Amino acid sequence: MTGGFISFEGIDGAGKSTHIEAIAERLRERGHIVLRSREPGGTPLAETLRELVLHRPMDALTEALLIFAARRDHLLTTIEPALARGELVLCDRFTDASFAYQGAGRGFDLAVLRALESWVQSNPSNPGELRQPHLTLWFDLDPAIAAERVARARDKDRFEQQDLAFFTRVRDGYLARLAAEPARFVRIDADAAREVVGAQIDAALRARGW
Ligand code: TYD
Repeated sequence: MTGGFISFEGIDGAGKSTHIEAIAERLRERGHIVLRSREPGGTPLAETLRELVLHRPMDALTEALLIFAARRDHLLTTIEPALARGELVLCDRFTDASFAYQGAGRGFDLAVLRALESWVQSNPSNPGELRQPHLTLWFDLDPAIAAERVARARDKDRFEQQDLAFFTRVRDGYLARLAAEPARFVRIDADAAREVVGAQIDAALRARGW
């Protein structure tokens, strides 16, 4: 069995979270050792930073720095060791979310995000190489439909409180990441019925030998 790093992306309300558990179960049945995690978060330190990022007011640079600080801790203490053990890491969001939310959504400087990405994700044993997911499943849903779903949630965090224009920009940000790296991404039509979404995901996993 081969390990790997799979990230799940999409705007709030696209429904990725409900599918991750089912995917983890399916992969375990096929003999994989699966580690589920999320960003920001995934370690005690990074979960503390997540609480701050989601709920405390802050400027865009502070937000980006905290998210990438959380990512550094998560990579070093959780993701890299799991990959070294040959496990399959399923991560609810990774750096594409920073380019989509901070970059496209908030209009934050993409050059700064690229610099943070290269510092935080450089491989300690091979600094020229950037750690990226092997596969990114992008749950794509019309931002207006996603907004209706999010509107029903209580206790909205700083991102869920944003308007439709913000999420339209975030979707465009994901589209730009996919266009730049089409081989890493698979677009999932998140408006389809649950079983159809599940089948799209399964096809993407099998195509990679998982
Ligand atoms: P989300 O993954 O949607 O979790 P939940 O299902 O519990 O709401 O919430 C994380 C939020 O953090 C989401 O709104 C997007 C945001 N985020 C960023 O803005 N930048 C990032 O780099 C990451 C990883 C997340």
